[in-house]
Formats: sequence, structure tokens, C-alpha cells
Amino acid sequence: MAKKLCGHAVSEFGLGTWGIGGSSSPDLREDRASVEAIRYAIDRGINVIDTAEMYAAGHTEELVGEAIEPYDRKSLFIITKVWNTNLTHNRVLNSARQSLKRLRTQYVDLYLIHWPNPSVPIGETIAAMEELVSTGLARNIGVSNFSVAEMQGAIGAARYAKICANQIKYNYGTRQPETDIIPFCEKNSIEVIAYTPIMKGRAGGYRALKSMAEKYGVNPVQMSLRYVMERSLPIPKSTNATHIDELLEAAKIPLTREDYELLRNSR
Ligand SMILES: NC(=O)c1ccc[n+]([C@@H]2O[C@H](COP(=O)([O-])OP(=O)(O)OC[C@H]3O[C@@H](n4cnc5c(N)ncnc54)[C@H](OP(=O)(O)O)[C@@H]3O)[C@@H](O)[C@H]2O)c1
Repeated sequence: MAKKLCGHAVSEFGLGTWGIGGSSSPDLREDRASVEAIRYAIDRGINVIDTAEMYAAGHTEELVGEAIEPYDRKSLFIITKVWNTNLTHNRVLNSARQSLKRLRTQYVDLYLIHWPNPSVPIGETIAAMEELVSTGLARNIGVSNFSVAEMQGAIGAARYAKICANQIKYNYGTRQPETDIIPFCEKNSIEVIAYTPIMKGRAGGYRALKSMAEKYGVNPVQMSLRYVMERSLPIPKSTNATHIDELLEAAKIPLTREDYELLRNSR
């Protein structure tokens, strides 16, 4: 438990769930193994789980709900997201209620706008999300895939709840957020949650990562995870026990400041 997310003690990284139980529609074939994989990660200390109403048209949330049922709810930090066609007031409230039902929980720890939608005034969406906070259905609210300008709009629209996180694509191959979104978030105490943090498990093509991985006796995927942990809370997805173990080992790499800077300055 080394990090704080919206004031809550969390593991150094969370578990992503895109692709678990299907992608755009439900695929029930791996359900048993998927539930076991999520529990495998929780049993090893990963307490943040990221999902979304859109994943497998709700089936991913159902599998997360099944997986977390035996655990003490307070020990977990569950993130889900409202899809960007559901950002009007009533649709936000309805989406949240449906997600909670599928997740078999009374509340989510963090409710995110999955993608911005300029055709719905941000004030309307944020007001609905604040209603979720005041009624106890969401502990915290945030955004995903928001630019700095879009974040400023969301922050300006919030009357009392804090926009406490922005979930963005951030990995060793996509370091552009280090120039704008990450500094803005750091200045405003907004947590950066990094999605696709290990480049879908394809980190071998980066020479600097490869040689740094060799120096520390790990593999490039592990080094890529360790790199983004420096300035974000990453949420890699895995349903493979060996991979989950590797990710857990990556969190322990004693990367020095000098080596971090070497990686940061390499292409
Ligand atoms: N907000 C958004 O718009 C948004 C967009 C995309 C993703 N996300 C979230 O972010 C999560 C992570 O992103 P992602 O799923 O796109 O990509 P990712 O986490 O970078 O990569 C996942 C892939 O890497 C493999 N993998 C995991 N550990 C590995 C290891 N140690 N060695 C080699 N391969 C490994 C996984 O396969 P195995 O399962 O076989 O291990 C899986 O195929 C998603 O699941 C989702 O929750 C959010």
C-alpha cells in the first residue's frame, strides 16, 4: 500500500479489465478463469480494479462483481466509467445504477466520464455526478481522456466534489502526457491513472527499456510498468497468473533517479 488515490490507500498499480468477458459484446467462454484471475490479483495485494459500463456491454462489470463478492468491500477501490453517449443528467444516474447492480456493490470508489462529449454541456454531466456523490453511490468522481482544457472545464463546473483523477493513455511509447497533462495534474493534486501502461505487453522494441531491463535483471514489460509508476497509477490488464506475478515484481524494481532520467531522456 504505497499510493493514495482520491485520498484512499491503494496498491502501487491496479488491474485493468478491458477484454475480460468480451470486448464490444459479451463472450462467456472464459468467465470462470476470468473471475479466478481477478481474485488471484486481489489475493496478492492489488486492490484497485478498473472497469467500465462499455466493456463487453456490461459483462465485464458482472465478472468484476462476482470476483469481488467474497472480499471486504472497504479493502477494495473499484473504478468504473460512464460511456460518452450517456452524459446527460438522467442517463448518468441510470448508467451508474446499472453499473452498481452489475458490480453487486452499493457504491463505486471512483466514477469516471469515459470520454468527453462536446455535445453535452460538461456542467450537466458534472452536476449529475455530484448527485451520485451526495447520495453515496460514488465516493469520488473524475474524468478520462480529457485534455488540459477539458479538465479545466470539468474543474470549473464542479461545485463541491473534486475532480480527483484523469485516466489517460500513458506508457513508454506514449510519453507526450509528460509535457502537459501530467504536470497540470501534479500541480492540481489530480491523480493520473495510466491506461495501456505496458503497451499491450509489447515493450521489446524500445532499446533503452531493453538495456535498462537487462541491468536490473527484469524484462522490458516489467521495466515499462516501473517507468510509468513514477508519475502515475498504472492499471495493466492481465488474466495470466505468471504475468500478474511479473507485474508485482516490477513494482519492486529499485530504479534509481539517474536511471529513471536516462529512460526519460531516451527515445
Ligand atoms: N479510459 C480508457 O479509455 C481506456 C482505454 C484503454 C484501456 N483502459 C483500461 O486500462 C487497462 C489496461 O490497458 P490495456 O488493456 O489496453 O493494455 P495493457 O495493460 O498495456 O496490456 C494488456 C495486455 O498485456 C498483456 N500482459 C499483461 N502482463 C504482461 C506481462 N507481464 N508480460 C507480457 N504481457 C503482459 C495482457 O495479456 P494477459 O492477460 O495474457 O496477461 C494483455 O494482452 C484496460 O484493461 C482498461 O481497464 C482504459
